Amino acid sequence: MVRINGLALVTSALLVWLLPPVAARADGSQATPGDVLYQPSVGQEGKDVIWVPTPDALMQAMLDIANIQDGDILYDLGSGDGKIVIGAAQRYGIKAVGIEYNPDLVALAKRHAARAAVNDKVTFIRGDIFKEDFSEATVLTLYLLPQLNVKLKPTILAMRPGTRVVSNSFDMGTWPADATIELEGGRGYFWVVPASVQGRWQLGAHGAKPAAELDIQQSFQLLGGRLLLNGESLSILSGRMRGEAISFTYGTRSANGDEPRGTFKGTVRAGILAGTLSDQGVDVQLSGGRIGQALRSRP
Ligand SMILES: C[S@@+](CC[C@H](N)C(=O)[O-])C[C@H]1O[C@@H](n2cnc3c(N)ncnc32)[C@H](O)[C@@H]1O
Repeated sequence: MVRINGLALVTSALLVWLLPPVAARADGSQATPGDVLYQPSVGQEGKDVIWVPTPDALMQAMLDIANIQDGDILYDLGSGDGKIVIGAAQRYGIKAVGIEYNPDLVALAKRHAARAAVNDKVTFIRGDIFKEDFSEATVLTLYLLPQLNVKLKPTILAMRPGTRVVSNSFDMGTWPADATIELEGGRGYFWVVPASVQGRWQLGAHGAKPAAELDIQQSFQLLGGRLLLNGESLSILSGRMRGEAISFTYGTRSANGDEPRGTFKGTVRAGILAGTLSDQGVDVQLSGGRIGQALRSRP
C-alpha cells in the first residue's frame, strides 16, 4: 500500500515535471499542472450530492434575478468548480464565497479564480454546508437536492430579511417561490427571505392614540389575518412580505366574493411596522409595534 502510494507520488511529481509550465485551455486561459492532475467529471460523487455545474445561461439568469448590487455578498452552497462564485465576482465586482466539501474542487476553484483575476474578491471554504456559517450572505445560490433545500430551509428563513435565494432545479418544499426562471436548458427558483410579522400589532398616526390594530397570520411570505380600523373589523384579503417590505389589501369577505376597501404598504424594521394606509382614497401614515411592547419612535 505504501509502495503504491509512493509510486503514485513519484508518478505525479514526474507528470508535473514533464508538463510544460503552462498549457492552453479551450477558453484561451492557461492550465496549470494542478488542472491536469485533477479533472472532475460531471456526475462524480459528492458528500450529499453529486457535482454537476450549473449551465452558463441558467447561471446568468440566476444572477440576474438576484438583482445584485454593490455591497452584496454571495455564497454558493456546494460551490463545485467555483463557477457561480467567480462569475458573480467578475460580473458585479462583489465579494463571493463558495463552500465545498471536496478539497480537490476547492483547489480547482482557487486556480480558476486566479486565472479570472478575482482572487481578491472570492473565498473558497473547504467545509460542510450544514456546519459552516453563511449568515453574512445577502445572496445565496444553491444547486443541491430537494431534501437538502428543505433541510437548509429553517437556517435560510432565519437569515437577514431581504436575503435573496436562488436555487437551480429544486424548490423549497412548502415555501413557495417568489419567482421562477424557465429556460430551455433548466429551471430556477427565487425567494426573498421575509421578515417575521406574525402576531398582533398596534399602529397609530403621529403618536395619536392607536387607530389600527393588526392580527397577522403569516405563512412564509404570504399574509392573512385581520385589520381593526377605528373599531371596524376587516379581513386582510391578500398580503405579502418581500424582505422587510409589507403590503396588503383589506376589505370584507362575503359569499359573493372579496370586496377590497383599501391597501397598506410599508416596512417592518427594528420592531417597527410603518407605512401608508390608503383607506377609501384617504392616505394615513401609520406606525407602531407589537402589542405587548412599548411603542418606539424610529431609530
Ligand atoms: C450539483 S453541484 C453544484 C456546483 C455549483 N454550485 C454549480 O452550481 O455549478 C453540488 C456540489 O455540492 C458539493 N457538496 C455536496 N455535499 C456537500 C456538503 N455537505 N457540503 C459542501 N459541499 C457539498 C458537491 O461536491 C458538488 O460540488
